[in-house]
Amino acid sequence: MKPQKEALEIVKKYISKYNEDNEDKIKENLLKELKNYLVRTGDGTVTLRSEDSKEMMHSSVGALTEAIYKFVKPTKLEERKDPFILDLCSGLTYNAVAALNYNRNAKIHMVEICEEVLFLSLFIDIPLKEHEIIKDKVREYFLNKLGYSYKSKYKNVILTVGDARKVKFYNYDVVFHDAFSPKRDPTLYTYNFLKKLYNSMNKNSVLSSYSSSIPFRRALVENNFIISEEKSPERKRGITLAYKDIDYKPNRVNEVDERLIALSISSIPYIDKTLSWSKEKIIKYREEIKLRVKMEAGNYISTKKIRANKVPNEIVKIQKEDKNSTEIIKKMSKVIGWDSILRRYLS
Ligand SMILES: C[S@@+](CC[C@H](N)C(=O)[O-])C[C@H]1O[C@@H](n2cnc3c(N)ncnc32)[C@H](O)[C@@H]1O
Repeated sequence: MKPQKEALEIVKKYISKYNEDNEDKIKENLLKELKNYLVRTGDGTVTLRSEDSKEMMHSSVGALTEAIYKFVKPTKLEERKDPFILDLCSGLTYNAVAALNYNRNAKIHMVEICEEVLFLSLFIDIPLKEHEIIKDKVREYFLNKLGYSYKSKYKNVILTVGDARKVKFYNYDVVFHDAFSPKRDPTLYTYNFLKKLYNSMNKNSVLSSYSSSIPFRRALVENNFIISEEKSPERKRGITLAYKDIDYKPNRVNEVDERLIALSISSIPYIDKTLSWSKEKIIKYREEIKLRVKMEAGNYISTKKIRANKVPNEIVKIQKEDKNSTEIIKKMSKVIGWDSILRRYLS
C-alpha cells in the first residue's frame, strides 16, 4: 500500500520539472497544490493519508515524535557504536532523520517503494539539521535519474527505491519496520519476509515496529526472534521489539498477548512463499489456512477463553516460568494440537 493516490499524482508532475536550481520554486508551488492533502500532526510536522482513507502515514501524536519514541529510543540507538540501520519504508524520511540526529555515526540503508513520497520529503520541514543529509541523498537519487550528475558528499546513507521484498539487504544492527498496518497491507509482515530480515541481522540486533498485531508477533516468534514490547506514546497497546541473538531477557510482552500468540487461531501468520504475492493473495491464503487448521485440529480454545485465562493448568504454569516471551510462547503452543499443523504451512 502506498500513500494517497491523488497526492502522489500532484507530486509526480513536479518530478520531471526538477533540476539543480529550482528547488525553492518547486517547494512553493508543490506545497500550495498539496495544501488539502498534507495533514498537520500533533508536533507540527506533516504527513499524508494512505491509499486507504482510514489510515495515515503517521499517527496524530506527531510524525517526528513517532520516529523518536517508536524507533530511535526503543532501539537504544544513542548507545550503539556505529550501528548499521535498515530504515524500511522510509516514506517522508522522519525515521532516518531522527536516527542521524541521535547517532551521527550511524550508517543507514533507506528502502522505499514510492518515489513520489521521497521526492516530497525534499520540501517538507523536519526541524532537525540532519534533514539536510537525508535530503542530499534524495536529491542525488532524483537528479541522477533525470540525467544530471550529482554526487552527495554524505557516504553513510544508502537509498534504494523498490519493493523491500526484492531489495538486496546487508547485515544490520537495527531495523526500523515502518510499513502500513498488517490488517490493510500484510506484505511486509509475512513469515517469509521476516525470515529475510532475520537472516540480514547481526548478533545483538533489534527490530522495532509500532505494530502489536498478533499474527505479526507470531511470525516473529516462528522466526526465532525474541519478542518484547515497550510503551507507545499514544496508544494503550505497546510497540513491538524483536531481538536476535541476545543473552539477556528483555521485557516480556503482556500476558494476554503471550497466550493469544501461542494459542489463538487468530495468531496464524501471513505467508508469502515467493515474496511476490499481492496483499489480497496473502490475506486470502491466511484465511484458507485458518479454516484448514480449524477443521483438522478439531478442538481449539476460543479467543474469549484465552483472554480470560480459562486455559489448561499446564499453560498457566508455563506462563509463570522465568523465561523470555518467545520461549514461553513456543512452550505453550506445543501444548495445544494445531501447532504441528501450522508448521506444515510454514515449511
Ligand atoms: C507508515 S509509512 C512510513 C513512514 C516513514 N517511515 C517516515 O519516517 O516518514 C509506510 C511507507 O511504506 C512504503 N511501502 C509500502 N510497501 C512497501 C514495500 N513493499 N517496500 C518498501 N516500501 C513500502 C509506503 O510507500 C509508505 O511510504
